[in-house]
Order: sequence, then C-alpha cells, then structure tokens
Amino acid sequence: MSSQTETIEALFEGAARLASETLEENRAGRGPVVRRLSPEELGRALELELPAEGRGLECVLELAAKTLRYSVQTGHTRFTNQLFGGADPAAIVGEWIAALSNTSMYTFEAAPVGTLVELALLDKLNDFVGFSEGEGVFAPGGSISNLMCVLAARQRAFPHIKREGLRPEDRPVMFVSEESHYSLERAGLVAGIGTDGTVLVAVDEVGRMRPEELERSIASERAKGRTPFFVAATAGTTVAGAFDPIADIADVTESQGLWLHIDGSYGASALLSRRQRGLLAGCDRADSMTWNPHKMMGVPISSSATLMRTKGSLEETLGMHADYLFHGNSDNAYDLGDRSLQCGRRVDALKLWFSWQVQGDRGFEERIDALFGQAARFRELMEERPGFRLIREQEGTNVCFRYLHREKRGAEGSERDLHEHAATLAIRAQLAEEGSFLVNYASLDGAATFRFVAANPETGDEDLTALLEAIEAAD
Ligand SMILES: Cc1ncc(COP(=O)(O)O)c(C=O)c1O
Repeated sequence: MSSQTETIEALFEGAARLASETLEENRAGRGPVVRRLSPEELGRALELELPAEGRGLECVLELAAKTLRYSVQTGHTRFTNQLFGGADPAAIVGEWIAALSNTSMYTFEAAPVGTLVELALLDKLNDFVGFSEGEGVFAPGGSISNLMCVLAARQRAFPHIKREGLRPEDRPVMFVSEESHYSLERAGLVAGIGTDGTVLVAVDEVGRMRPEELERSIASERAKGRTPFFVAATAGTTVAGAFDPIADIADVTESQGLWLHIDGSYGASALLSRRQRGLLAGCDRADSMTWNPHKMMGVPISSSATLMRTKGSLEETLGMHADYLFHGNSDNAYDLGDRSLQCGRRVDALKLWFSWQVQGDRGFEERIDALFGQAARFRELMEERPGFRLIREQEGTNVCFRYLHREKRGAEGSERDLHEHAATLAIRAQLAEEGSFLVNYASLDGAATFRFVAANPETGDEDLTALLEAIEAAD
C-alpha cells in the first residue's frame, strides 16, 4: 500500500470514528445541544485565517472535530428548534457516496445511477400522493420546489410567458394562507407577480385556510380585473403544524379552473402513515406538491421532491434544450436537467434511497407515527403542569404553547400575553445559553409562543419532562 493510500485510509477511518461517536453522543442525549459563542469568539476558536502554505491532510481530522464541537447538535434528543432532527446513518453514508462519486444530475450520461434512483423515488412518492401519471424532480429545498410549482402554474395559465414574459393585461394573482411559509410569497416575487399579487387567505383557530375565505378572495380579485391562477394549500404549516382542508380547497380550485399546489414540505410525510394520511385527504386532486424528506423523514438536508400530477409540466416550463448538454440520443428521455431550475445539481436522491432501503415503507411509517405520538405526549405532559397554556389546537407534530410563572398568573388578557411574550424570549435565551435545549419560538396571535417540534423519534419522555422542568426553572 502506498503511503498516500495509507494516509487517506487513516483519514477516512478517523472521520468514520468521529461520525459514530457523534451519533452515539447525540442519541444518548449527552453533552450540550450547542456551545454558544459570539461570532467573534467563534471566529477565534475556529482560526478562520486561510494559510499561504497548505497544512496537508493531517489537519483534516482536527478541522472536522472542531467543526462538530461548535456546531449545533441537530441530532441531539434535546434539539427541537427546527422542523428536522435526528440523524440517519444510512442516509449519511448516502451523502458521502454522493460526494465521492461527485457528479451532476443533468444527464443520464453523467449520472446514470443518480438518475434512475431519483426516478424510482419520484415514482414512489407520487404513488403515495396519488399522482398515477406524475413526474417530478429533486430540488435544493422546499422553497425552490414551491417556486418551481408557481412557475409551472404560471406557464399553464399564461402560455405566452416563456417567450414574451408577462403582458400588462395578464395581472396574475395567487392565493396562499396567512400562515403559509414565506417561500410562497417569495416565489410570487421571483415570478414577477410581486407581493401585492399574493393574497393571504384567513385561517381558522387551528391555523387552517378557510375555503370560504378563499372563494371570497378569488371573487374579489376577479372583480378588480386580476387573473387568479394559483392556490397553495399547506400540509403542515411551519409554526402551528396545521393541515389545510385540501378536499374543500380542491372543490374551489376545480370549480374556478385554478392550479392547486400543496406545500407539503413539512407534512407530506404524514402520507407514509396509515393513521395520519387522512390529514392530506384529496391531495391526489392537486396539480403539484412539494415534499421534503429532509424534514419528518430524517434525511440530511437537502432532500426536496417537486412533484407534478402531469408529465411534461416541468420541461414545458423550464426546458431550454441546450444541445451542448442534451445530445438528443436514446438516453435523452432519462435526462432530468430540463425539468430543473439548476444546471449542475447534487445527487440528493442517493441518501433517501439508502434510507428507504434500510427502513422500508414500514420503518418510515413507524417513524411518522412515533413523531405524532411524541407531540401528543408532550402536550399531555405539559397540560399536567400549571402555568403552561396551549396556544393552538395541535394537529400535526408541533405544539405551540406559552408559560407563565405563578406570581404573574393572575394577569388577564393582553397583560398576560405581554408577560408570556417576555417570558418566552427570556427562557428560550437562557436554555440556549446553557446549551440544555434549543427550542424555537414564533409570533402567534401577536405574542411570542414556544414551538415544540417532534422531529427526532429518539427524544423520550425523560427529555420532554426535562424541557418542561427547565422552562419552569428558568423563569
Ligand atoms: C411549510 C413549509 N414550506 C416550505 C419550507 C421551506 O423549506 P426549505 O427550508 O427546505 O426551503 C418550510 C421550511 O420550514 C416549511 O415549513
């Protein structure tokens, strides 16, 4: 064996050891969730300066250890800050292999394995949605998938757009719920519709779009001479975790001839569970769907499927047919490049494929059921304790709540909201400072609200109780 091979082997063995130790620590909930440093302190600890003379492969393990030491441990059982959590060893290896094979997903010729794997996964996801003749492509995240779906809807409604762009008389307008993800409004902005062209439809007390409000808004926009073309229902809203009533919304979009998109970035994974898939009843009536396996399914970021009910929609919208890349040979039908906003594209499909092979449909179903069960359990434990107040009825895997210390509990109405708002910010900051928990907050009904996210099935009752105790102790 050459000495270079030995050095590389030692490097990879060291990296593998570091990886398994990190996974083990996080699974056991050992160590802090985060070591909080100011940007200046962190900059010093990382020694960011780039050397004039290379340090050689010997420095890589030290860099890796340092990176992990100061990173947020998103695989930790006490990380509940984002809509993802945990760590899947099979998917991590898939990610490594994607880097090792280092190719780009535009043509079958350049990425034969990635292409077939991606197509198989898209078929599988489309089966769960009910898009029996569907297609799709992977994208760098839910935001980009949402954008692609807005563009596809715009293409269908205004077929001249690809050549001419928007005409002054087009006046497109789209509809999303007021609790939808901001990426949809941004997609409108990128699509030349502007934020004024995106109508935010009112939600009910759970956070679900009100179909009757949607119908009213559409009529009102038509009366202004604008052209409605796109409605997005959200399956799993970012803060409340609510599921918009898709079948009722589909009744509206079908009668109005509008494109129905489902932003299932977060909640589409509920389709994997026989118990939970009813939350998306009617989703097969949509025209497009975004589904992020990098959220509930625990695959490392990014893994986002852009799904279309009708074959050809993406290429019709985005295809540019560059002949230096797509040579028109017999494999061309497999080239995914003209379905994508990107040219060079990572092989994101591999990690999900590895994970699916290991877990199967049943393993994913168990995971999703465990996450829904964990959120319900957290709520139950919370409601046993005085001072905690559920802010939204829990539908998905988020629990939105506030806490008030006993001395302040007599307060009423807006004064109480004010106390809870201040307490939420202070408690959250203290937990993050200690590194004991990372739990996020958002503004709901005008005041800061804790958002617990069940994202890591390894998080147990002990962690849930410890979070409630830490909140009580921090106040
Ligand atoms: C409902 C919803 N849609 C879209 C997104 C955007 O996804 P990404 O962060 O992958 O761009 C998010 C992210 O949290 C989300 O919650």
